[in-house]
Amino acid sequence: MEEGLNQARQRLRQARRVAVLTGAGISAESGIPTFRGSGGLWEGFRPEELATPEAYARDPEKVWRWYAWRYRQVMEAEPNLAHRLLAELEAQKGNGFLLVTQNVDGLHARAGSRRLVELHGNITRARCERCGHRQPLPPPAEFEPPPRCQRCGSRMRPDVVWFGEFLDADLLAKAERAFMTAEVALVIGTSAVVEPAASLGRVTKSAGAYLVEINPEPTPLTPLADLSLRSGASEGLAKLLKEAE
Ligand code: OAD
Ligand code: ZN
Repeated sequence: MEEGLNQARQRLRQARRVAVLTGAGISAESGIPTFRGSGGLWEGFRPEELATPEAYARDPEKVWRWYAWRYRQVMEAEPNLAHRLLAELEAQKGNGFLLVTQNVDGLHARAGSRRLVELHGNITRARCERCGHRQPLPPPAEFEPPPRCQRCGSRMRPDVVWFGEFLDADLLAKAERAFMTAEVALVIGTSAVVEPAASLGRVTKSAGAYLVEINPEPTPLTPLADLSLRSGASEGLAKLLKEAE
């Protein structure tokens, strides 16, 4: 394992093109619950009751209450060491770096990441149901859902991607390109079961490049990874980014 770790460090240090995919696990240390597993957000809820267009059409108030609660939770949280280390890695790599996240919590941006694709949207914004205008939610203390569009006055929905909806095609293409051309890809804190984000690591492997996974639990990507660090996101990233001895 030590040998694998040293090799991964060296690969990462030398790589000019690096792609990173993160999931809910990277925000666990900021106190934001993951979706699956014990204590997960989906536990006790069926996702189709809350995170689908049908659920929203049926009971928009209920869906907005759930998002308003998550929005408060996210705004009370702070980015953790793992978010910050990825912002530093971006600063080192510049142009050749892309961070793709499935998270809607906005913590990567707050930690300073700019070469960032938020594949599933962002919970701190709303999108107009009529004209598509996007705007940030007011501060949690002043927020009374549902928000109204500043441009046309219509009701707005959370600016996230729900089950059964398509991802933004341009964002997805950008993410795929980055994983296709990366010399090293990191996949951190995702159960790797939701497509198409789940296959980004596979894209890197089929292109013959190097794949590192950081997750306390094994995932469907584990058998493919060149190195699997069985640790939390901060600890794993700190190990990986440490100068090779
Ligand atoms: P999941 O909740 O499915 O998976 C979280 C992963 O994080 C698991 O594999 C855990 O083992 C791992 N984990 C837990 N603690 C960790 C830690 N401290 N450090 C690193 N990893 C840790 O979350 P996602 O894979 O992000 O989609 O879920 C993907 C998508 O499914 C979400 O974006 C959401 C959900 O349905 C939409 O809302 C569209
Ligand atoms: Zn509007």
